[in-house]
Amino acid sequence: MRVGVFDSGIGGLSVVKSLKEHQLFHEIIYFGDTARVPYGVKDKNTIVRYSLEALEFFKNFDIDLLIVACNTVSAYALDEMKAQADFDIVGVVEAGVLATKNALKNLNSEVLILGTNATIRSQAYKLALKKEGFTNLTSRATGLFVPLVEEGIFSGDILTSTMKHYFWDLKTPDAIILGCTHFPLIEKEISSYFKNTSRMIHSGEAMVEYLHVKYNLTSLSKECDMKFFASENPEALKKIAHKWLAI
Ligand code: DGL
Repeated sequence: MRVGVFDSGIGGLSVVKSLKEHQLFHEIIYFGDTARVPYGVKDKNTIVRYSLEALEFFKNFDIDLLIVACNTVSAYALDEMKAQADFDIVGVVEAGVLATKNALKNLNSEVLILGTNATIRSQAYKLALKKEGFTNLTSRATGLFVPLVEEGIFSGDILTSTMKHYFWDLKTPDAIILGCTHFPLIEKEISSYFKNTSRMIHSGEAMVEYLHVKYNLTSLSKECDMKFFASENPEALKKIAHKWLAI
């Protein structure tokens, strides 16, 4: 199976990492819109427009499935993209919701949803979880984590202060949805802030679980051919991909 993975930038590599580790595909075509990242501070019209342009890029490849690794795009543009594609498109929000449902048996469990400003503003996770019967939902836009991760700040004082700034009034939840491609890179620190007692929902792992349930996809092949494209400075993206994915 040849799959496309779309993200606003490099963060979607955290989803590719999970796909690769679980050996789900023979070929992965990755596109990061590095020229226009971040999407998480933009409005719906812009996010939809950029996403439809990215869709055109994937139409040049004979892909079987497109995975939208970007939470912001998944929250805002999935329906519009699906309407213009002749291949299946799945997003990390639906995957994250399924993973949360599978992880928590009690619908009164406290769920903390983290994401970019746009993702939280869309209420995509909140509405989908409510539909599943969850009642105890808190959302928080934690956009500053994105540039910190981009700067390679994965621990230390600046990250601790930023977490205090966002989380000071929160009780320890039962689960935390890392609703942004960048947050898995600081998962350990976020978990440790909440005393390592919350279940962490990671978009990449959630997607693997989702593909298993929806397409019955399990480990296929040890060989996975990966191609990386970016709207700006593809060499930098390739370099990071080789480092993160150890290829
Ligand atoms: N990829 C985005 C997401 O998962 C984070 C970066 C951005 O704001 O574009 O929401």
